[in-house]
This record gives sequence, structure tokens and C-alpha cells, in this order.
Amino acid sequence: MRFFIDTANLTEIREAAALGILDGVTTNPTLVAKEGKPFKETILEICKIAGGPVSVEVIATDAGGMCREGQDYAQWNEHVVVKLPTTRDGVKACKCLTGQGIKVNMTLCFSPNQALLVAKAGATYVSPFVGRLDDISHNGMELIRQIIQIYRNYDYKTQVLAASLRHPLHVVDAALAGAHVATLPFKVLDQMFNHPLTDKGLAQFLKDWEKAKS
Ligand code: E4P
Repeated sequence: MRFFIDTANLTEIREAAALGILDGVTTNPTLVAKEGKPFKETILEICKIAGGPVSVEVIATDAGGMCREGQDYAQWNEHVVVKLPTTRDGVKACKCLTGQGIKVNMTLCFSPNQALLVAKAGATYVSPFVGRLDDISHNGMELIRQIIQIYRNYDYKTQVLAASLRHPLHVVDAALAGAHVATLPFKVLDQMFNHPLTDKGLAQFLKDWEKAKS
């Protein structure tokens, strides 16, 4: 499973990259706005640190506009993956961009039908939003399982990027379901390291070593 970090915060991306297990970054307009810095400058900085795919979301809502923005973004850096909303126009723009060899991440996916449509349009990634479905009492992880099954049935190459993950159990369930990628808020990535028995065991080993070394 590949790990992307879901943030536009350079400190978080640097810290995650320093752990040696980071494969890429996902951003969205909300995350970029939080940082209060110019959009392009932020994305270029992220691309330098990430060393892997960086999803950058378009703002246009019509297919032509999305396609033009996507073509522009794709020239900024080799790591850019154009993020498009899963709408009719988004699917058209996906077909247009992937036809030009540009990588695309289809975001705001909330149903298996939407996932089927984006796979047919050649999307590189589909981003089903697990936490936002859980928020409205739907089973977000069931959507991940359904999409993986459907893609297997037809051998679609689109990768399932589990998004809107809110806690470490979401990561485990996405991994068990076979999601290709999980995009994680920094907090969730950090929480994955924690186990009280690791802390307790290490403290005991160090205490015993004090006795053993003398
Ligand atoms: C993914 O690409 C999205 O940026 C993100 O996972 C959304 O998460 P949220 O629902 O916690 O805002």
C-alpha cells in the first residue's frame, strides 16, 4: 500500500518525508487556503519535497476549463497529478487529459457508479471519501470494498486512493480491502506509530540494559 499525505503544510510534508515511508501528497483548495500562501508557489514547494505524485485540484467547473487548467498544472512539475471533481464535466476532462498522457485523480467520489465512470474515462486514481460518508451515517469503507471488487471484475487499471481517512482503523480497513493508496492527514500517519506495549517494552529493555552492562 502506498501512503500519500493529505496536506499542503510544508512542515508536515517534510516530517512525513523524513520518515522514509512517504509516496506522495494530495492537496485540495481547502488545504491550500489554510496555508495562506500563493497557490503555485505552494504546489512547486510541495513537489520538491514530495518526490512522488502530488494531486493538484482544478477550480474550473466546465470540461474545457478543467482541461486547460489541468494542461497548465501538468507543465509545472513532473510529479503533478491533476485532481478533477467527479462530475459530468470532470469525467469529460478526465478523458481529455488522460488522452494526452496526463495523470488524473478523480476526487469527491461517493458511489460505485461514479467509480465505474471514471475508470472508463481512464483515470489514474479514484478518490472515494470514506470519512465524509461515515459523517452522514453511510458506510464509507463499504464503498472502497465495492469499487475494488468492480475494478477487479473488469481489470480496470484505475488505482483506488482511499481518501477522507480520519483515524488509524480507517487505514487498516482500507489496507484489508486492498486499496492501492491511502491518503492520510499528518495526525493519522503519526498515530499509526503508537502502541503502548512498544513504549512499555522499550522502557523495560533500556532499564534491564542498565543492569546487564555493569
Ligand atoms: C483527498 O484527496 C481529500 O483532500 C481529503 O482526503 C478530504 O478529507 P476530509 O473529508 O477529511 O476533508
